[in-house]
Amino acid sequence: MTVRRKVAWVTGASQGIGAAVARRLARDGWVVAASARSTDKLEALAAESDAWQGSVEAFPLDVTDEAAVTVVYEEIEARLGAVDLVILNAGTHQPIAAADFAVAPVRKLIEINLMGTVHCLAPVISRFVERQSGRIAVVASLAGYRGLPTASAYGASKAGLINMCESLRPELQEQGVVLSCVTPGFVRTPLTDRNPFPMPFLIDANTAAARIVSGLAGNRFEITFPRRFAYLMKLLRVLPYALYFPVVRRVSPRRD
Ligand SMILES: NC(=O)c1ccc[n+]([C@@H]2O[C@H](COP(=O)([O-])OP(=O)(O)OC[C@H]3O[C@@H](n4cnc5c(N)ncnc54)[C@H](OP(=O)(O)O)[C@@H]3O)[C@@H](O)[C@H]2O)c1
Repeated sequence: MTVRRKVAWVTGASQGIGAAVARRLARDGWVVAASARSTDKLEALAAESDAWQGSVEAFPLDVTDEAAVTVVYEEIEARLGAVDLVILNAGTHQPIAAADFAVAPVRKLIEINLMGTVHCLAPVISRFVERQSGRIAVVASLAGYRGLPTASAYGASKAGLINMCESLRPELQEQGVVLSCVTPGFVRTPLTDRNPFPMPFLIDANTAAARIVSGLAGNRFEITFPRRFAYLMKLLRVLPYALYFPVVRRVSPRRD
């Protein structure tokens, strides 16, 4: 008798947190469909996986292309079988100073982080509800907990994801589908390597991947790390505005 290997779909898997999650799952025996725009990096990851218990297969995709997302998801299920786990991690960040606030950069972040995730969620939820099973993890950020300096677009996209997940979770649970929201603090990746400021409680991508994968073993809604930073952000979340804004002003880097 052959045992079917479990299938996971990871978006944003060409580098950073997504690549680390894909590696970790494939080492644990999963068949991983890895998506991102950089085909060369996905293929390199797939080649690396030859030595592992499971495997990584490249499914290049731009999550902002709604039609392409549906086609790729169908392709994954046709080639690898029913998807058991989806980790919607594709995303990016661009700091925007209030004085430079403009439509284009905000639209870009909303299109990738929020709508890109929505494009993936729609066909996945439809299929998972039909099957009355499946596990979904949406990667948001601790930056979605409250408005932080220069994160007007990024924070809005991530707060939107957190709220959307809170909204979907109970109904999906009744349909046998488990949805979790991942809220990382600072993780060292090509994205954060661009940050010109010291990042508190910084962890590496492999540690983040381990936290995500172990968090998915349970039925928890929120998978958040590192714990001390998460507690701090939860505390900020409940501060009244009269206290919140002075605290934020004090810890914000000064613009000369
Ligand atoms: N690093 C942190 O400190 C941190 C903290 C909290 C939350 N997060 C979140 O974690 C996720 C991963 O971040 P990271 O730090 O690993 O970033 P990263 O190193 O820049 O990786 C981002 C990944 O998303 C993919 N991606 C970007 N735009 C895409 C698009 N339009 N279509 C498909 N894939 C796309 C990128 O691949 P291609 O460029 O090849 O498409 C890449 O694989 C993001 O959602 C981020 O907001 C990160």
